[in-house]
Amino acid sequence: MQRAYYVTTPIYYISGEPHIGHAYTTIVADVLARTARTFRPTFFLTGTDEHGQKVANAAAAAGKTPQEWCDELVPRWKALFAEYEIAYDDFIRTTEARHVEKVQRVFELLRERGDVYLGKYEGWYCVYDETFWLESKLVDGRCPTCGREVQWISEDDWFFRLSAYRDRLLEHFERHPEWVRPRSIYNEMMSILAEGLDDLSISRTNVQWGIPIAGGGVIYVWLDALLNYITAIGWSQDDARFHALWPAQTQLVGKEIARFHTIIWPALLWAIGEAAPELVFAHGWITIDGAKMSKSLGNAADPFALARRFGPGSIRYFLLREAPFGSDFSYSEEKIAQRHNSDLANDLGNLLRRTLSMLSRYRDGCVPQSMVESEVGARFAQLPASVRAQILDLRFREALESVWELVTALNRAIDERKPWVLYKEGRTDELDATLYDLCEGLRWLAILLHPVMPERMSEMWRQLGSPGRIDEDWTSSLVWGKLAPNTQTSPGASLFPKIDLAAQS
Ligand code: MSP
Repeated sequence: MQRAYYVTTPIYYISGEPHIGHAYTTIVADVLARTARTFRPTFFLTGTDEHGQKVANAAAAAGKTPQEWCDELVPRWKALFAEYEIAYDDFIRTTEARHVEKVQRVFELLRERGDVYLGKYEGWYCVYDETFWLESKLVDGRCPTCGREVQWISEDDWFFRLSAYRDRLLEHFERHPEWVRPRSIYNEMMSILAEGLDDLSISRTNVQWGIPIAGGGVIYVWLDALLNYITAIGWSQDDARFHALWPAQTQLVGKEIARFHTIIWPALLWAIGEAAPELVFAHGWITIDGAKMSKSLGNAADPFALARRFGPGSIRYFLLREAPFGSDFSYSEEKIAQRHNSDLANDLGNLLRRTLSMLSRYRDGCVPQSMVESEVGARFAQLPASVRAQILDLRFREALESVWELVTALNRAIDERKPWVLYKEGRTDELDATLYDLCEGLRWLAILLHPVMPERMSEMWRQLGSPGRIDEDWTSSLVWGKLAPNTQTSPGASLFPKIDLAAQS
């Protein structure tokens, strides 16, 4: 099997309703997957992390069994992803048999290989982050990651010999300085490694809701959860499929869980004889007034309401355009409205509307034939290759800025060449060349922006009357001049109607 592009998101705790922060990582993965899919086999995995104390507590508070609770909430998460036009290839739930059996198999394997031992865990535990903490790591007696209260635990647990992997981890980090991005997170992980690693407790005796271990207790929820990335793709079951996908090209995570994915995860993979992923990218947080947006802080935006208000395409665009991927960025409805109105309604939506209306006025809505070599075409010949490279390198903001150079060039072509004057003066060749450039440029934009705004760009594609598929390989579809003369356009409703927040509230 040909090696595929495999991209993953964290699997989400279903301790409550999803918020826009959860949609964020999944949207980014979707943009990567849609871009990769145009030219190579691709697999995009997301899902839900259903075991552990945090989910069990949420279920108990709602008066439900954990399984009932999860079964009720999963459709909300799937609905969220559908609302945001996310086309995942698989959605794994950690309560599914295909996952549970393989996690148990991993545990057996670790036992057989002597990578685990029984010991006593005495220390602190943060239920919110499902993390064990030594006293020395607490900050003012609280969880160093989320600042919440921790609980004292004293139990007999299985331990994974994480400390034995420290040297190999250090060597891996040194030999692959790009495997953890951004650099700030790489450096943070290097300093954790420099301090030294403790063995990791990987079972819980006093927790019921989890994958059972023969002899008692359940598997620690993080060990269970991390394994989703390989259980979903046929590890220990379908070798050909597994090796066509593993190691993953891109694993996206929020920065608060970078340590699990760049220290524990590779060690665990090595312990069972598998390779570490090629890239773990730890992105920043969507913040509100400087704090991470989260359900429990009560500052989480309802993603369903947001999609209705602005349109999923505009939110997707905003999330990728607002800040360099990796950094935190503050979120507000004003900022989304601003981006929507300036970039999408003014720059792009108006470009389409003006072009189609000139075309219908001067050429009965049909794309004319251009008799001259296009300057715009020549200038942007390298654009598709660079946008693709920028996206796959997770430089989304730069990619959108590059695409916007074409948007700007086309708007400028209208202002400078003034098709209405060309029409009035009967300068047919120049008029046709200009209209052709505009239509061809818009066709390019629909293709280039399709991974970011799939539904809106499909609508643009329809209005342009373009035949064929919008998601073909760019090397064949993005050839300037491919748009056939006489293509009949069909103008429709405005792509991005302006939003007036004051009038709505
Ligand atoms: N279940 C674990 C992950 C296990 S992966 C093997 C977990 N789940 S979570 O529900 O808390 O969500 C984690 C992910 O949601 C974060 O890593 C991040 O990708 C995303 N985000 C949650 N809140 C976010 C923001 N406010 N901003 C950006 N991303 C956010 O941790």
